[in-house]
Amino acid sequence: MGDFRLREVARLVAFEPGPEGGVALDLGAARGVLRIARDGAVQLRLGAGALAPDPAEAIGFLPWRPSRAEPFPREEEGGLGLAHAGPEGCASVEVDEEPFAVRVRDREGNVLAALSDFALGEDGRARVDLAAPLGQRFHGFGEKTGGLDKRGDALAMRSRDVPPFPGKDPLYASIPFFLSVSPARPPEDPHARSTGFLWTCFATSRFDVAKSDPFRVRLEADAGGLDLTIFPGPHPRDVLRRYTARVGRMPLPPLWALGHHQSRWSYGSEAEVRRVAAELRRRGIPSDAIHLDIDYMDGFRVFTWDRRRFPDPKGLLRDLRAQGFRVVPIVDPGVKVDPAYPVYREGRARDAFCRNADGSPFQLYVWPKQSALPDFVRPEVRAWWGEQHRPLIEAGVAGVWNDMNEPAGWARELRVGKLILPWKAQDLSRVVQADPVDAAERAAKAAQRADDDDLPPGDDEGAPKRVPHEHVRNLYGQMQCRATREFLERAEPERRHFVLTRSGFAGVQRWAAMWTGDSMSRWSHLRLSLPMLLNLSLSGVAFCGADIGGFAGEASPELFARWMQIGALYPFARTHSMWLGRRQEPWRYGARVEAVARAALELRMRLLPYLYGLFHEAAASGAPVWRPLFWEFPDDDEAARVEDQVMVGPSLLAAPVLVRGARERELYLPPGVWYGFDDDARWVGPRRIRVSAPLERLPLFARAGAVIPTRSPVRHAGETPAEPLVLEVFPGADSDGVLIEDDGESTEHRHGAVARTALRLHDRAAGRLRLELGRREGGFGIEPRTLRVVFRASPAPRSVYVDALALPAGAGRPGWSASAGRVEVRLDDDGVARSVELDPAP
Ligand code: GLC
Repeated sequence: MGDFRLREVARLVAFEPGPEGGVALDLGAARGVLRIARDGAVQLRLGAGALAPDPAEAIGFLPWRPSRAEPFPREEEGGLGLAHAGPEGCASVEVDEEPFAVRVRDREGNVLAALSDFALGEDGRARVDLAAPLGQRFHGFGEKTGGLDKRGDALAMRSRDVPPFPGKDPLYASIPFFLSVSPARPPEDPHARSTGFLWTCFATSRFDVAKSDPFRVRLEADAGGLDLTIFPGPHPRDVLRRYTARVGRMPLPPLWALGHHQSRWSYGSEAEVRRVAAELRRRGIPSDAIHLDIDYMDGFRVFTWDRRRFPDPKGLLRDLRAQGFRVVPIVDPGVKVDPAYPVYREGRARDAFCRNADGSPFQLYVWPKQSALPDFVRPEVRAWWGEQHRPLIEAGVAGVWNDMNEPAGWARELRVGKLILPWKAQDLSRVVQADPVDAAERAAKAAQRADDDDLPPGDDEGAPKRVPHEHVRNLYGQMQCRATREFLERAEPERRHFVLTRSGFAGVQRWAAMWTGDSMSRWSHLRLSLPMLLNLSLSGVAFCGADIGGFAGEASPELFARWMQIGALYPFARTHSMWLGRRQEPWRYGARVEAVARAALELRMRLLPYLYGLFHEAAASGAPVWRPLFWEFPDDDEAARVEDQVMVGPSLLAAPVLVRGARERELYLPPGVWYGFDDDARWVGPRRIRVSAPLERLPLFARAGAVIPTRSPVRHAGETPAEPLVLEVFPGADSDGVLIEDDGESTEHRHGAVARTALRLHDRAAGRLRLELGRREGGFGIEPRTLRVVFRASPAPRSVYVDALALPAGAGRPGWSASAGRVEVRLDDDGVARSVELDPAP
């Protein structure tokens, strides 16, 4: 046993050039590495005694791209400097000798991060303070309840099965990433600035966000040493681009996954699933997917079907598919301990399950009672686990839902009928898992040996290295999703895949979409879903949602209607509920609420081309789909405080009704001109307004300059709409955008099969309003089609020109007409460049 006290890292003793673009630090009793990436990201790693190898790539982060920075001694102040300025980014770092301190600056010399009071323990614990100037806000931290700004909170990361009640922490996911945002301080420094921080710790970590000390954020890790990466901005967009370049981005989802998902614990038989699907179609409620919760399995044995209740999965899935439904079954990590069950037998034979330190098998209680947990840290276990999905794929499932992967489980249980009461937390203190770096190296060597017959078998490598489960716990869910996705991509490389998860770590978006777990059907839970999903979005998880309607308890018709309205705009839109509560299909609350739900989902279907463009953007750059107002209006102090409204992409602002009985909504419109998305209202921000919001109405606004691609509603994403493309144009500002289209299914988009059309709005250029559609570019062909452009413009123009030729007025095509504040232009769209101009009335 070593000395487990935390010791201050007081002094830089010496340094020398280290890894490429970095410097090795001698800190007396500690060692460190500091390096700058080509894009300006800065990583600092410190360890007591020696420095362990960087686990980043073993756990699925993307390779570090080094800069050419070289350390130099600072003449006057002592200590060292390290600087990099390149086309992709820049940063300079100053290291003070005594007391040891580190500052990161941007090109203008602004301090992005000031770190001090470092301390390390021999056992891997680490601590550091980050300066938190007054006025600076803190966002992100993954899946957290509470407000948008985390200043004043103390947060922890340790994944556990705890529902997202206000004030509860930690929850299912552990994403130790956050952004600081400094407010604009005119006139000397007029722009807001953001910086990102990733604290790579798979054990429990803690963040005292200027709670104990109003000028500091204190970061603590329970194991693994200090591993902090700093991502310069200045805009959160730049932070997210750099952060996701390191931890990975969301692969483009299939289009259907952007549709509505209908779920319940559980649709427990083939007949019931068929009924739900038929009812959704009969009532014209758009929906794309049905989820199968745990009761489809045989005694909760993963990768099996209960053949009494699901006698013919293949036939069922084929029939549903013909109606435009995809099926997503749940797959939990717990494997029932049952010697007659092949998955358990095989897992044991392969030594795939987590063990106790003394070698005895580790078991816990989950739905299938006594269960074993695969050690997903090991690549060969992931590969084996992945293969278990093959029959599911062959049966025709379209995606996989990974749950209980914190991992959840309990020491004993109490069953009362169907009710399973978790009883006693499982003692995990003796459980061990593979060390990520050692496991990755072994797997790489094994693969090499398999390729190369001349190499002798690898019995010279010693025993695999094991570490306490708690040291890698926060990776558990992520590594399960990685196993799932890696298999799906191996099995069907030409298709896009959908994986959903409850737990995850930084970078989870690379493997899965995420939902926020077992909320309650309460107004407070509806309300908290906004800041929660916004912070999750700012943490790299663009594809996220909360259970629409709430999971446990009974939603009132009014709550369900309001939840549906905003839930239909969640990046991931799934209705789900627990078996104890009321059924949450949209028709369970009466005709009026059913109509509200239908309208909400029709709006989603209508906005699908716009949403899809946002998902393309997220996949390419890490920018989230849901954005807090300050993302779009970084220099507006008022916008920074708003946490009950969201920007859906750059163009739409939603201000849902979140209060029982409310039939009005007060809200804030940031600077600029705003339009009611579906009415004729128009405002000039910044201002607070109050709008009427009967149950049928979601207050939704479009920003001046927006050109929003929509289509006529369909019953599911794959259905051909009557009108494939309608551009909704909101004049009042110039803008530049792009319409992105592809087949929505295959991975051909990676090989150029994407159609891009530039959309440029010139407001009142030479007295006219002009929309330019660029020539369609790229390798995805689109059949000639009709295009409708709807301008919010009044009074009616004198004439409309297409490519400088006057267009006939009237209902024909091509042609234009004007009514009620709208000017409608109908055109043939064959991919050539077009300009549409409105010549205003004199
Ligand atoms: C967990 C999940 C929930 C699911 C239930 C049964 O509570 O969070 O979504 O319905 O397990 O599988």
